[in-house]
Amino acid sequence: MQPKLIIHGGAGNAVNDAAALAAIRQALHSIVGDVYTRLVAGADARAAVLQGCRLLENNPLFNSGTGSVLQSDGQVRMSAGLMDGTAQRFSGVINVGQVQHPIDLAQQLQQHRDHVLSDFGAAQLVRELGLPMYDPVTERRLREWMVARSHNFQVVSGSVAILGTTSDSAVDDELAPDPEDGRGTIGVVALDQDGNLAVGTSTGGRGLERVGRVSDAAMPAGTYASAAAAVGCTGIGEDIIDECLAARIVVRVEDGLSLQQSFERSLAECEKRQRDLGCIGIAADGAICWGKTSEVLLAAYQAGEAVGDTLDLLEAFAVGMA
Ligand code: GLY
Repeated sequence: MQPKLIIHGGAGNAVNDAAALAAIRQALHSIVGDVYTRLVAGADARAAVLQGCRLLENNPLFNSGTGSVLQSDGQVRMSAGLMDGTAQRFSGVINVGQVQHPIDLAQQLQQHRDHVLSDFGAAQLVRELGLPMYDPVTERRLREWMVARSHNFQVVSGSVAILGTTSDSAVDDELAPDPEDGRGTIGVVALDQDGNLAVGTSTGGRGLERVGRVSDAAMPAGTYASAAAAVGCTGIGEDIIDECLAARIVVRVEDGLSLQQSFERSLAECEKRQRDLGCIGIAADGAICWGKTSEVLLAAYQAGEAVGDTLDLLEAFAVGMA
């Protein structure tokens, strides 16, 4: 069977800087190229998803792993979900810090009795695995956070006073992220030569969120697969959770819709409810689909010929097939 691959680096408002867009395109195409080569060489879908997620987590252009956005208290807490469609098994980590590849923890948990771990348990797993401490904060993300929070600091008698605390909901509301932000996530969906499907999602979250906020990435709402289809989502996590979008699309395929019909119906519902999101998917018959209600979805795919992408498609609501 011809392997299929689609990846994304987030959804949101259009990227108006041509150089930034070119850098994103170059990164996505290069990662699709590397992972697809491995799929063609016989890698299974889960290994391909892991490789793709690790490469995307390494790239500071994207909001996951290195380059993750900071939460309201200036800390990075990352989440990742992985689903193996053949085993129909979900695993994930929620709000983990100080690790280079959150997706590796999700992979580890595929074999554990406990499939999803949050902050404390995830940190303990990092220690048990002996993974090195890693600081994913980049200069750019730190500067963004400082600008966003600049009105919360004041120089008093020669030292810096912090006005407000992150547990104060009024302050958190005031810190609601710019609509340009907070929709980044990375995701990979793969179909291998033997017909196995897998999907992985990894994110730094929405940015400036309250401590303890939980992303869609490590939930079946954002990351879901069965033997019939695999889907990964990006965008505002709350919107994705309200739609339970990834699982919704997959279940519709199981119930007899084609992947494209399922994307069209589900995305139309999202559009009606003014959701802000995007998603990618592959069906067991090899169909590749993407859809969005955001202005842009940063996705690239390989169906066996040339690498394609969705970066120039700027109409707010769109569903397409590769
Ligand atoms: N979709 C990523 C998040 O909202 O956390």
